[in-house]
Amino acid sequence: MRLVLVGPPGAGKGTQAEYIASELSVPKISTGDIFRANVTGGTPLGQEAKRYMDAGELVPDEVTINMVKDRLAEPDAAEGFLLDGFPRTVPQAQALDKLLVDLGFSLDVVLELVVENDEVIRRLSGRWTCRNCGKVWHEEFDPSSQAGICDRCGGELYQRDDDKRETVVTRLKEYSQKTAPLIGFYSGQGKLVGIDATGPVEDVTERALAILASFE
Ligand code: AP5
Ligand code: ZN
Repeated sequence: MRLVLVGPPGAGKGTQAEYIASELSVPKISTGDIFRANVTGGTPLGQEAKRYMDAGELVPDEVTINMVKDRLAEPDAAEGFLLDGFPRTVPQAQALDKLLVDLGFSLDVVLELVVENDEVIRRLSGRWTCRNCGKVWHEEFDPSSQAGICDRCGGELYQRDDDKRETVVTRLKEYSQKTAPLIGFYSGQGKLVGIDATGPVEDVTERALAILASFE
């Protein structure tokens, strides 16, 4: 299956992407994770992306599209993939369509995680991420994270710089100005399905998998 997850910052894309990708046996491709790995590694791509990420702004389309093009050319993406955090603008969506046509594929479905702004602010301000395996935790909903150690791999948990309140406000503004238009773009293609992404993580996963079963 070729699937895109879309939704505001903190909607739970990364959390759900883990479970859904594993259930569907496809690689999870997260542009945010790829950028963060490049920032940590100090690569030229990371140095360029960092100034936008720190400000809560989107990295320019050209940079992002080229990065995804390279990633989709890797052998593990040939049979299907789950994109988390890409596309994020209409030009990125158009570039993805073109890329897939060139490869002889098309997207099966775009799943929108629907959550109100108040809830995403609450989720981001309590988020902790494992430095080692990238798993995300929430200090209120996963009390075990308060020990600062990842339950899965023993790695150290940290809070993302771009989860500071003022940066979150910019990220939400970027979402409504640049990413929300994707909803109309994909519903025009008949590919968009929205789900309620509130409530326990397992309930959201169940809702998502029930919808996706009809596309298999
Ligand atoms: P990116 O990493 O993609 O950030 P984002 O879209 O803002 O999404 P987040 O990772 O913040 O949230 P999420 O929806 O994955 O939520 P999560 O599962 O962690 O991008 C970062 C930056 O990179 C961008 O600002 C931009 O600069 C750049 N970038 C990336 N892609 C780009 C692109 N395509 N174009 C241009 N620039 C790009 O959950 C959040 C918290 O809530 C966690 O603590 C989690 O435990 C908790 N939680 C999850 N689900 C639930 C639930 N059901 N109930 C309670 N808590 C929950
Ligand atoms: Zn870990």
